[in-house]
Amino acid sequence: MNKSDLLLDVIDLKTQFFTDDGIVRAVDGVSFQMKRGETLCIVGESGCGKTITARSILQILDYPGRVVDGQIFFHRVRLVDGKEVRQIIDLATLKTRGPEIRDIRGKDIAMIFQEPMTSLSPIHTIGNQIMEAIRLHLPVSKSEARERAIELLRRVGIPKPAERMDAYTFQLSGGMRQRAMIAMALSCGPSLLIADEPTTALDVTTQAQILDLLRELKDDLGMSIMLITHDLGVVAEMADDVVVMYLGVVAEQGNVVDVFHDPRHPYTQALLRSIPKYGLRTAGKRLDSIRGMVPDPYSRPTGCPYHPRCDRMIPDKCDRITPPTIQIGEDRVVSCLLYDVPGLPTRSYNAPQPALCEVR
Ligand SMILES: Nc1ncnc2c1ncn2[C@@H]1O[C@H](COP(=O)(O)OP(=O)(O)O)[C@@H](O)[C@H]1O
Ligand SMILES: [Mg+2]
Repeated sequence: MNKSDLLLDVIDLKTQFFTDDGIVRAVDGVSFQMKRGETLCIVGESGCGKTITARSILQILDYPGRVVDGQIFFHRVRLVDGKEVRQIIDLATLKTRGPEIRDIRGKDIAMIFQEPMTSLSPIHTIGNQIMEAIRLHLPVSKSEARERAIELLRRVGIPKPAERMDAYTFQLSGGMRQRAMIAMALSCGPSLLIADEPTTALDVTTQAQILDLLRELKDDLGMSIMLITHDLGVVAEMADDVVVMYLGVVAEQGNVVDVFHDPRHPYTQALLRSIPKYGLRTAGKRLDSIRGMVPDPYSRPTGCPYHPRCDRMIPDKCDRITPPTIQIGEDRVVSCLLYDVPGLPTRSYNAPQPALCEVR
């Protein structure tokens, strides 16, 4: 991958929750890369660490969660006085409540959630909330902020946007609320939008409309989207690249066409076998489900975390050795001991870079 194409480089990220009952290793050494302008889907069963990975990037973890190791290099491009300024910032080193990460949240990276009420207030009009978000980051007057907010509501497909400025969230349908949240996320023109299961709570028609909207916005605004989902149908429709997660680690990453046509990790293979295939005669047949259950987070298996459920597990190897990340193609990696054969390179990372180094 060309270095200037890189937007996000997550290296060996570990995030843990220090609870009274023990340590939950929610994210246990996650590495992946994201290119500028792409839609990257992160997919995996519930509880595998997708949300915590996203929240770690933005440093919005709930107590008692903490990033304990790893790097999150964000390749930021901003226009300052008409000049392009590029910086590489290790988000993992920024103070969670410090001015640097606050400046990045919303302005460079915005996040939307499954439940719009996570980020919308029930006691303020949506217009006021969006205007406030705009004025937090941009030096504009109240009337300019209002114009911009109306334009954003129009852009996300809310009819009669000037009138809707005065609406409260309870006056909007689920789909409209989701659109209002997207408008708020877009208020400062982020280069990366993280969407965490944005359509999971919606009916299929509304889901399709919101996905269409995200795709349009990405193309029009030149944004990159990190789309978190448990739904492989959404991945097939939206992704350029896909990261498959299992129990706090990345099972494999690659271009969506490659991963769907030639899945390498036994977990990805099992996931793909578990979805209905359009056009195939599945009537009367049962779909495969993945054997076993995701283990409880306090007792992670040793070795490869997937080995207790894996059909191809090698005794005395997969239960002992943590699989390395193996490069099996350009921009294609898999973390599985089946591919750990001499000759195939494991991924090597660049030397650690200092935080906030400018590369003008
Ligand atoms: N506040 C918390 N306290 C303790 N454990 C948590 C907390 N939030 C999430 N976890 C644990 O972190 C793991 C990953 O969760 P999450 O990232 O939300 O999964 P996903 O989004 O893939 O469904 C789970 O085992 C979950 O129980
Ligand atoms: Mg989640």
